[in-house]
Amino acid sequence: MAFPPDFLWGVSTSAYQIEGSPLADGAGPSNWHRFCRPGGAGAHLAPGGDVACDHYHRWREDIALMKELGFQSYRFSVSWSRVLPGGRGPVNPAGLDFYAKLVDGLLEAGIRPLITLFHWDLPAALEDRGGWLDPDLPGRFADYAHTVASALSDRVEMWSTLNEPWVVMHEGHLQGSHPPGHRDFRELPRVSHNLLLAHGLGVQACRAAGARTVGLVVNIEPKHPATDRPADVAAAARADAYMNRHYLDPVFFGRYPEEFPALFGEAWPAFPEADFRTIQEPIDYLGLNYYSRGITRHDPAVPFGQWSSVPHPSHLRTDMDWEVYPEGLTETLLWLQDRYGPIPVYVNENGAAFPDPATAPPGGVRDPLRVEYFRTHLQAVLSAMARGADVRGYSAWSLLDNFEWALGYAKRFGIVHVDYETLKRTPKASARFLSEVVRSNGQVL
Ligand code: NOJ
Repeated sequence: MAFPPDFLWGVSTSAYQIEGSPLADGAGPSNWHRFCRPGGAGAHLAPGGDVACDHYHRWREDIALMKELGFQSYRFSVSWSRVLPGGRGPVNPAGLDFYAKLVDGLLEAGIRPLITLFHWDLPAALEDRGGWLDPDLPGRFADYAHTVASALSDRVEMWSTLNEPWVVMHEGHLQGSHPPGHRDFRELPRVSHNLLLAHGLGVQACRAAGARTVGLVVNIEPKHPATDRPADVAAAARADAYMNRHYLDPVFFGRYPEEFPALFGEAWPAFPEADFRTIQEPIDYLGLNYYSRGITRHDPAVPFGQWSSVPHPSHLRTDMDWEVYPEGLTETLLWLQDRYGPIPVYVNENGAAFPDPATAPPGGVRDPLRVEYFRTHLQAVLSAMARGADVRGYSAWSLLDNFEWALGYAKRFGIVHVDYETLKRTPKASARFLSEVVRSNGQVL
């Protein structure tokens, strides 16, 4: 079993999590910037992404690091409010130029840039107009996508519209831990529908602007019932609909999971049929973010009673309290193929937070648990490929320790350690390990 010679090995990041300098050079505030300020619902996260990894100034160093480690691709996101400070209207040339220089630098280093257009940071001005509840937002997103793709599609082949729409909906509108900080399940169907319309219109806009390969990135977690009791089995099926089929069924089948009308009750709207033609705009590939699975039991106390997770008694858990479950990656890749038919898949995120010291010790950062996480998950990718899954690439999350959203800087996902006092980068043992994986095209696994 081996990876094909053209398998694409990369690393991932996102704008707000690493860049810092959120208002530099004419950028407008994003919803995340505002959320993390005193007075914002996420004020405890202040100063949020104000400095982060200072990638905005250190991107050359970061490209050099990736080159030294041998990565072939780099998946990053564009900050909408750098390019369009008000979310719409006039372009901020300096914002666009930051990404143009980054792309040129990557290409010079022989690294393929993969662009995500929306990785959760929304211009604050658009959140003021209702954010993902605003029926105009999908159109605004398409305009933004067109602007960025027009500027960069001559140099960037692979694009994705949205990163993990489920998290935007779930954390932003049910849990309230992400902006806009709402906790109202009645908003969920409209938020999801607008995200899906934005995706469909975004694909069209990217193609109209010359992008060749356009996809969507979703997070999938196998949902296993905690027991074989019918209530738990039913809860696992509802959890699977809510998290895993929520966006993919509409994109591939033009309809929502059949569980939804009952799940949302009176909050379930009638959507115009024509919308689904937009949502079903064919995509060139699917991006998969995989971290863990959910062991699900029925629990009427959780939000609208549909899902709940219980820990496995003996499996290792990461610093996020997520079970390490590599078999689930094989299962997910086979499930995608099985349910949605032949579609090229890129594992766009996979990785683990484990506690690392705040300052890198002189001998370097040893992170054996993270190395093991990567090894076992890459073996899981290979087993899925051996059983027919069409996996074209793998991108580790993340190049750098960074701002882990509602959990701040406490959770370290990087293969490169960041000292937040000095901003010094130090590759961890996992970076060396992945570097060997890339150089040997997986032979060292
Ligand atoms: C998924 C998200 O895309 C990314 O932003 C986040 O940091 C990782 N998962 C880890 O939680």
